[in-house]
Formats: sequence, structure tokens, C-alpha cells
Amino acid sequence: MKVLVLGSGAREHALVRALTHDPTVDAVIAAPGNPGTDALALNVPVDAADPDAVLELARRHAVDLVVIGPEAPLVAGVADTLRRAGVRCFGPSADAARLEGSKAYAKEVMAAAGVPTGLARVCTSEDELAEALDAFGAPHVVKDDGLAAGKGVVVTEEREVAMAHGRACLAKGDDARVVIEEFLDGPEASLFCICDGTRVVALDLAQDFKRIFDGDEGPNTGGMGAYSPLDWAPEGLADDVVARVAQPVVDEMARRGTPFVGVLYVGLALTSAGPRVIEFNVRFGDPETQSVLARLDSPLGVLLAAAADGGLSDLEPLRWSAESAVTVVLSAEGYPSSPVTGVGIDGLEDLAASDLAEHVHVLHAGTRIVAEGDLPQLVSSGGRVLSVVALGDDLAQARTRAYEAVERIDFPGSHHRTDIALRASRHEIRLP
Ligand code: AMP
Ligand code: GLY
Repeated sequence: MKVLVLGSGAREHALVRALTHDPTVDAVIAAPGNPGTDALALNVPVDAADPDAVLELARRHAVDLVVIGPEAPLVAGVADTLRRAGVRCFGPSADAARLEGSKAYAKEVMAAAGVPTGLARVCTSEDELAEALDAFGAPHVVKDDGLAAGKGVVVTEEREVAMAHGRACLAKGDDARVVIEEFLDGPEASLFCICDGTRVVALDLAQDFKRIFDGDEGPNTGGMGAYSPLDWAPEGLADDVVARVAQPVVDEMARRGTPFVGVLYVGLALTSAGPRVIEFNVRFGDPETQSVLARLDSPLGVLLAAAADGGLSDLEPLRWSAESAVTVVLSAEGYPSSPVTGVGIDGLEDLAASDLAEHVHVLHAGTRIVAEGDLPQLVSSGGRVLSVVALGDDLAQARTRAYEAVERIDFPGSHHRTDIALRASRHEIRLP
């Protein structure tokens, strides 16, 4: 089978890598891909959010399956165009992608499906905003209704900061909306539910680290690191979330005539009252995917093709490595507000040739190759630049290996968190 992966981040590099380990996959095309996917797949330039351009590419290369990585092509209707043209596709329609594209829509579907989530109010004016903030009280949770690449949410004790973010969201246009939500306490977890329109198969749980600095300080980012599995999670949590969240949502979407095919990413808070949905995304999470796929022993192409075909009921149970995986993101100086790009990155080849390489791999995100004299030089080209993924017998060993590898990468000015999976490795995470 020939598979086309759309996107250019470390998540897509992880997808490409896992697909190349699937014996049923004989070729992978990454579009546009990055210097990391270039080593494993055929990189082809494309505007991934242009449905006709993607269809033309899929036909030109006669691909058997298209896997859509990021949310933008999904919201733009790339999956609709492909399916209409008879091209097999893993990813939801634009209508179904509204589960991520609009927080207000997601809340409406959750209410209809009886899914446990935080109380919320959708506001369209500054007066409504002020009233909602007062009604819920601090800490305030203020969410841009639309897509914001993981940066549209502000959680703050300070009413003025909450008001300012709410006002900024409302200023985006005449129909702009902002969602004010009840604060949910408790550790967070991410569960990727593979859906075929009617059925759900869950991957192993992961946890990501959204804030830029150690100790969960500073602004939200796309994600600075992740680990899997979660040995502190209650027994049976994944099954419970499928039964109470993913399956009811998949049923509700089918009932509405917008069946969900793809990844339903369930972001959870494990509160004292039980699991509550914090958010849905309609694609694999980044960087959780890097940790989760590093542990998947089953063939990824078979899984995604079965979901695209509506055939998950015939799939064998997934097999997982007993090892733990830790992913540490290296970000650019100035990320998330104003990342510095064009900085040289060295040391990856030595790392790949070292004893660590048996347990560690490096995935690319914001990188590109430039010519420096006659030699190619890898430089940074985005906010999140590399994901360093390590496996170990337990989280402590995976962490040690990941951070040893980070030390061997020469990337001036770069930033990474030093506490990814630290508390979990010390068994310090407590459920409320
Ligand atoms: P979201 O984009 O909705 O996932 O929000 C980004 C981050 O903000 C989440 O990962 C949480 O850390 C935090 N967050 C979002 N909603 C809530 C909430 N209701 N209560 C507490 N924290 C929240
Ligand atoms: N890791 C969070 C996200 O992918 O949205």
C-alpha cells in the first residue's frame, strides 16, 4: 500500500516513521514533509489546505490511503474532496472537524451525547463575557471559539487578564465568540480514539505539557513534551472514556449525518468527580503522538486503512511495547510569541551513530536545509523545532536517555523543559 501523509510537523514525521515499519506499506509520500521525513519518504511540496491540489497529488502518485495530520486541511474540507473522488482517506469531513474548529459546537455535541465536561457559556459580547466571568469565578478559563493552534486558551486568576483575552477573541470579527468555562481541577490526560464512523479503538493514554516553562509556568504552547503510558491513571480509564465519551460522540455524529472517521483526540481532566472532557481535537496530538506511536507494535497502516474503510470491527487488538516513551520538544528562542528562525542545528548525525540511537530517535518539525557553501546545513524554521523521543524500561530511564540526547544536540538559543514526565517518573501524580 502507498500512503500519503499530509503535514510537516514532528507528528507527521512520527506517522511516517511508524508507517515505514508496517510491512503492508511499501511507499510513503510526505507532503510537504520536512527534512526528517525526507530520509524515510518521498517529500512532495503541496499546499496541504488546498483540497484540489491534494487530490491531484493523490491521483498523480496513485496512493492507496491519505492520512491527514494537521487540523487546517480537515477544516478546509480536504477529506471531503478526497472521499468524493473515491480516494481512501483517514481524517474527518469539514462538518465533523467542527468538533475541533468550534469549541461552542463541541459543547453542543457533548450536551446532546451526554458527555461529561465542564460547564460553559458561549459569549458574543463584552457584557456577556463579564457576566460569565463573574458567574464562574476564578480561576478563569477563557477560550477562543475558533482554531488557534493550541494558543487560544487562557487560564488565569486575574479577572483583568481574562477580560483582555476575551476582548481580543471577540475583536476577531462580527461573529466572533468566546467560551468561558468552569475551571477543572486534576491531572490531564490525552486519549486518541481511532474512529471508523461507527466504531472506536483507543490508543494508549499519554500526557502532554502545554506551558512553555518548567513547573507549568508561562504561556500555553502547542506542547513542549509528552510521555506514555500513564501508570498513575485509574485502571480501565481508556475503556471508560471510550464508553462514556468517544462512542457516544461517534454515535451522535453518525445520527447527525456527519459520521466521524479519523482521530477523536479526547483531552481530559481527571477531576474528583471523574473524567471531564477539556477539549476535542480531530487529529493526532503533537507531541503525544511521538510518544504513543513509539510504543505501538501493531502496524499503523493497517489500523488507519481499517478506520478509513469502516472496518475497525475486523481489526485484531492493538499490541503495545512494555517500554515507556518520553518526548522532549526543542523549541526556538522566543517561542511561542516570536520564534527566532534560521539558527544552525548540529549533532544529529553523531547522535544517530551513537550508542543512544538504539533507544532514542529525533523527529523534525520546524527545520529546513540550506546550502552553506557547498555543504547542506540544517537550520530552524519554526517554533517547535525537534522532538527527541526516548524509550526505556520505565519513565525514569526514558527520561534519562531523552535528556542525554538533548544535551548532544547543538542548537544555540534553543529552549526545552527539563521536567517532562518528572513527577510521573517519581510517582508523584495524585488524583484528587
Ligand atoms: P484546550 O486548548 O481547550 O486544550 O486548553 C489548553 C489548556 O488549557 C488545557 O490543556 C488545560 O491545561 C487548560 N484548560 C483548558 N480548559 C480548562 C478548564 N476548564 N479547566 C482548567 N484548565 C483548562
Ligand atoms: N498536544 C496538544 C495538541 O496537539 O493540541
